[in-house]
Amino acid sequence: PEVTLRSGNGKPMPMVGMGTASFPVVHEAVRDAVLAAIEVGFRHFDTAFLYGTEKPLGDAVAEALRRGLLRSREELFVTSKLWCSQTHADLVLPSLRETLENLQMEYVDLYLIHWPVCLRPAGGPPKFPNRKEDAVPLDVAGVWRAMEECQRLGLARAIGVSNFTTRHLDKVLAIAAVPPAVNQVELNPAWQQRTLRAYCADRGVHVAAYSPLGGQNWDGRGNAVLDSEVLAEIARARGKTVAQVALRWIHEQGVTCIVKSYNRERLKQNLEIFDWELTDDDRLKISHIPQRKVVEASGLFSQEGEFTSVDPAELNIV
Ligand code: A2P
Repeated sequence: PEVTLRSGNGKPMPMVGMGTASFPVVHEAVRDAVLAAIEVGFRHFDTAFLYGTEKPLGDAVAEALRRGLLRSREELFVTSKLWCSQTHADLVLPSLRETLENLQMEYVDLYLIHWPVCLRPAGGPPKFPNRKEDAVPLDVAGVWRAMEECQRLGLARAIGVSNFTTRHLDKVLAIAAVPPAVNQVELNPAWQQRTLRAYCADRGVHVAAYSPLGGQNWDGRGNAVLDSEVLAEIARARGKTVAQVALRWIHEQGVTCIVKSYNRERLKQNLEIFDWELTDDDRLKISHIPQRKVVEASGLFSQEGEFTSVDPAELNIV
């Protein structure tokens, strides 16, 4: 299954994509995992300038083409993201060009603003910010115009955003000639994002889920999805794994899953969610799972801060 993006001028986006955010980056490990993913049937890959995985992803695709696992790059849907130190109107296009060089590609299928945050431009490898002083006001209109230019030039087939709340989306939609095709956010049974999903559905912005399995213990508090007793019980009843139940639930919400696994068996498992369904009772139980956001870059994106990535309405989910 795939989704046609409203303002994209490229191919449809497969509803499950492989995520490549993993730290530290071991080039060969990422490359081999992507090759395994191509072999088991993944055609949608997600990376970002921040992750440092654009190069190994590009190497894997080049290798897959050499080995004949793919006939052409056209068969793939590839997403990358603009880092916060480059959310300056004049840095968007050069950043995308650097990303394309890393990927050894002529275009990305989707280019996203990684966070609704602007950091002072900095040389060297990108850093995840944790000091409010590093941030400067984000020129949403200027940056979005530059994103539109990337699409016009054919370097990005579709453009969108990531980690945007309804408040941030309001600002983009107010000035956009090409509205964002996608908002990629943390979303899973333990962070369901109901308000944001309804808002995006009303406005034709497709939602993609990162950390669909609860992430990689980013906050050191364990995994609210993979360790969920509610999901485990449903998994037993359906003869599926907890991961599959979580991905299936996300899929049933019309949301694309960006799921990271570097293990061939789990990669395969993560694609096997399309020929079965949850029951109404399963869905009801999942709707009562306690909610908790994991990814909150401390300081910059705190719940009180100016750059909050948490929609206040989300805090009231029952
Ligand atoms: P691994 O690469 O060893 O498979 P998220 O996509 O939410 O960030 O979560 C990814 C984490 O869950 C990864 O650390 C990944 O580890 C693990 N994972 C991915 N797929 C599965 C699966 N089918 N079953 C169990 N764990 C999985």
